[in-house]
Amino acid sequence: MSDLNFILKLIDVAKSHLQRGKAHQGAIGDETSRVLGLLQTVPPLTGVFSPNTHPLTRHLEAAFGAASPATADLVAAIRPVASILPWTYGYEKRDDFPGLENAMGWAEIIGPEAPFRSQSVCLGLTLIGPETLYPAHAHPAVELYYVIAGNAQWTAAGVTHTNPPGTFILHPSEVIHTMKTGGEPLLALYTWSGTDVKTTSYFTHE
Ligand SMILES: [Fe+2]
Repeated sequence: MSDLNFILKLIDVAKSHLQRGKAHQGAIGDETSRVLGLLQTVPPLTGVFSPNTHPLTRHLEAAFGAASPATADLVAAIRPVASILPWTYGYEKRDDFPGLENAMGWAEIIGPEAPFRSQSVCLGLTLIGPETLYPAHAHPAVELYYVIAGNAQWTAAGVTHTNPPGTFILHPSEVIHTMKTGGEPLLALYTWSGTDVKTTSYFTHE
């Protein structure tokens, strides 16, 4: 199979996991349905997937090991393309979080700046190394997360939960949120939708 076919397979498997969110009542079910509608057709490929050596990728193997049986097929779909996904860290460096730019980041597969170009929906992976706090941040887009690996602490609007693999988390537009890992990394699928998926996430410095 070509790299591109492996990426398309990953998108398919990701969508099959998002389908599970439809079983949720309320906001998570509603957002899952909205996103799956937006992802019905994979948008045009205008960029490239090329070898990526971002320092963050050193945490991939440990992250794969922190998956659960419920997400094993998603890990199997990520593994063949993990080294060509566009891993990046998009924030300014912070003196109060030294090394954060090498400890967390994401790889956007579909989105305004992603290889598959869409102005209405984003699909990507977030990876956070062990013992790391992803500091308080917010964005206009509505964000749906699906945990692939790791039992991190998720805080949104001041409420904290530990969310294991296979669970969904919804961040409404502009809600301040953080994630905090313990001894294992966090790997999660994310989607963005809403009226503005172009404005990037920003630290709220709270
Ligand atoms: Fe977010």
